[in-house]
Amino acid sequence: MGLYKIFINQTRKPEGVLGKMMVNGMNGGHAKMADWGMSHLPEVSPLQIAELGCGGGRNAGELSIRYPQAKVVAVDYSEVSVAKATEYNKEKIASGKMIVQQGDVSNLRLPEESFDLATAFETIYFWPGLEKCFAQVNKILRSGGVFMIVNESDGTDEASLKYEKMIDGMKCHTVEKIESALRSAGFSEIASYHHESKPWITVVAYK
Ligand SMILES: C[S@@+](CC[C@H](N)C(=O)[O-])C[C@H]1O[C@@H](n2cnc3c(N)ncnc32)[C@H](O)[C@@H]1O
Repeated sequence: MGLYKIFINQTRKPEGVLGKMMVNGMNGGHAKMADWGMSHLPEVSPLQIAELGCGGGRNAGELSIRYPQAKVVAVDYSEVSVAKATEYNKEKIASGKMIVQQGDVSNLRLPEESFDLATAFETIYFWPGLEKCFAQVNKILRSGGVFMIVNESDGTDEASLKYEKMIDGMKCHTVEKIESALRSAGFSEIASYHHESKPWITVVAYK
């Protein structure tokens, strides 16, 4: 495997030195897209937020700023991501506003029916079975809770399909595929948005 391919594979589960480099880059690299995604959040006043596949923790931090009344639980299955997200958010963690923990979205060990908002930025490409993982998200949300997915890829753009071939286990999903998996997992009232000039998508679903 070429060095670039080895590096780009770190997006799926950052590990070791290359993983640290990847996570450092993700916080800045995804910020603009993540903020575009967050601009579609409905008027909500969440008290409990789950940020899933949190990577370096920048988006967990941003959610904590946008919803100062909320407690944010940031989850990732990569030790490297958890370490970076913890360091990035150390003040919020110290003040009791955030917890960063290691966990897999395919088997979430979070209290059921407890979260008002769950978010997933640039991560569902790697989730092992959309329907099964979305059902896990559904399980932790309260009735009426919101799940927001934000992806850089709409599942058809050339750049991402190129990465799909290079990154083991990556799958670029179309909005239709995401919406269908959300419905099967028990979500209703789904709204989807496509960026006017980029392949970015945001899908917002209610439990
Ligand atoms: C491309 S990074 C995106 C990180 C961050 N959300 C962002 O937008 O910058 C994907 C992250 O999802 C995490 N991830 C992938 N599959 C996961 C799973 N099944 N459970 C928990 N985290 C997962 C990876 O470890 C990685 O940190």
